Amino acid sequence: MTFRLRTAALAATVSLFSGAAMAAECEVTHWWTSGGEAAAVAEFAKAFDATGNKWVDGAIAGGGGTARPVMISRITGGDPMCATQFNHGRQTEELIEAGLFVDLTELAEKENWSEIINPPSVLESCTVDGRVYCVPVNIHSPQWLWLSHAAYEKVGLDVPTNWDEFVAAAPKLREAGILPLALGQQPWQSNLLFGAVQIGVGGIDLWKKVNLEKDVEAARGEQMAKVFQAMGDARSMAEGSTGQDWNEATNMVIQGTAGGQIMGDWAQGEFQVAEQKAGEDYTCLPGLGVHEYLSTGGDAFYFPKVDDPEVTEAQRQLASLMVSKDVQVAFNLKKGSLPIRGDVDLAAANDCMKKGLEILAGGNLLPSGDQVFSADTQTQFNDLMVEFMNNTDITPEQAQERYADIVESAD
Ligand code: GAL
Repeated sequence: MTFRLRTAALAATVSLFSGAAMAAECEVTHWWTSGGEAAAVAEFAKAFDATGNKWVDGAIAGGGGTARPVMISRITGGDPMCATQFNHGRQTEELIEAGLFVDLTELAEKENWSEIINPPSVLESCTVDGRVYCVPVNIHSPQWLWLSHAAYEKVGLDVPTNWDEFVAAAPKLREAGILPLALGQQPWQSNLLFGAVQIGVGGIDLWKKVNLEKDVEAARGEQMAKVFQAMGDARSMAEGSTGQDWNEATNMVIQGTAGGQIMGDWAQGEFQVAEQKAGEDYTCLPGLGVHEYLSTGGDAFYFPKVDDPEVTEAQRQLASLMVSKDVQVAFNLKKGSLPIRGDVDLAAANDCMKKGLEILAGGNLLPSGDQVFSADTQTQFNDLMVEFMNNTDITPEQAQERYADIVESAD
């Protein structure tokens, strides 16, 4: 077995002879490679290094869809890292069942995670059969519309306040050579767009029926037909959008070469790195300005079992630090996500984060796709949506039919 976890020799020697705290090198894999993401993850690294351990950054480029199979094959193939990101929810079900992760229950109880972590569903997503297997680090919700003030100013229009206004403004942007809707090509981005349109246009009841009750009638119904028509609008608005990664699309909004992007609140990190100000340079509309809901998905860290006490101790320290107050604030302010605890000082939050916090406080919350569908079902949705967005031969009606078929067999 090749462990990439090299115990820091000097620190280990010191601990053996003096009883001082143990220290280890800890390779942490994640898919945070955009400017905002890298700035956020650096906060974890800084805090961890300050404990005497060493963060070995294992960023994997290409997004979660590329990174997760690499992470999984390393864990199952006997080459585990010290810690790894996944989205909390059902992505890791099989790895947990196979007993490959450290059980964090003792630490969670000692630190009272069940009392401090809010909303409770976030910790529940890390819990299987009463045992805790991950540490949630944020709440990230995907249903936001990000709008460029410069783009609308250029064509003499007010910045849209909701989905309908956004669609209505599209022709004027096109005439001026501005792309109405920026969309990257990774399949999850098209599915994220669909999820947001489903809430914004279809409404909360429909969303719950289909995603929670797996109601096939609702998936085939009229209200869902409106959602697919809106996806048709989105497809026309995104026509000509090139670029692969989500942050390239965000960058177009930052530059004013695109009117808007539907993307998770992690986009905030990019606006921040570009020194743009919410409410002045850009606007964010949760729930596409129609239904202000957030979903409680996000990121969590898991710790593969490793036969090395120093590493196990470093894993425990990293888990503890990730939920600690200061680190939660520093990380989430840069990431654009909401902290997993309410007892922290967020005076520095920008307008968009404040909107998110208000929605969270009001309890308008839904689970994320990763919390309610298996990874396999999610992949089927991703594939359908990217095919629809790239192939105008597929009508909204046909796409709806195929969508309903996936819902019918979803697990
Ligand atoms: C999500 C993750 C976010 C963000 C995004 C784009 O899966 O939860 O933290 O990084 O991918 O990379």
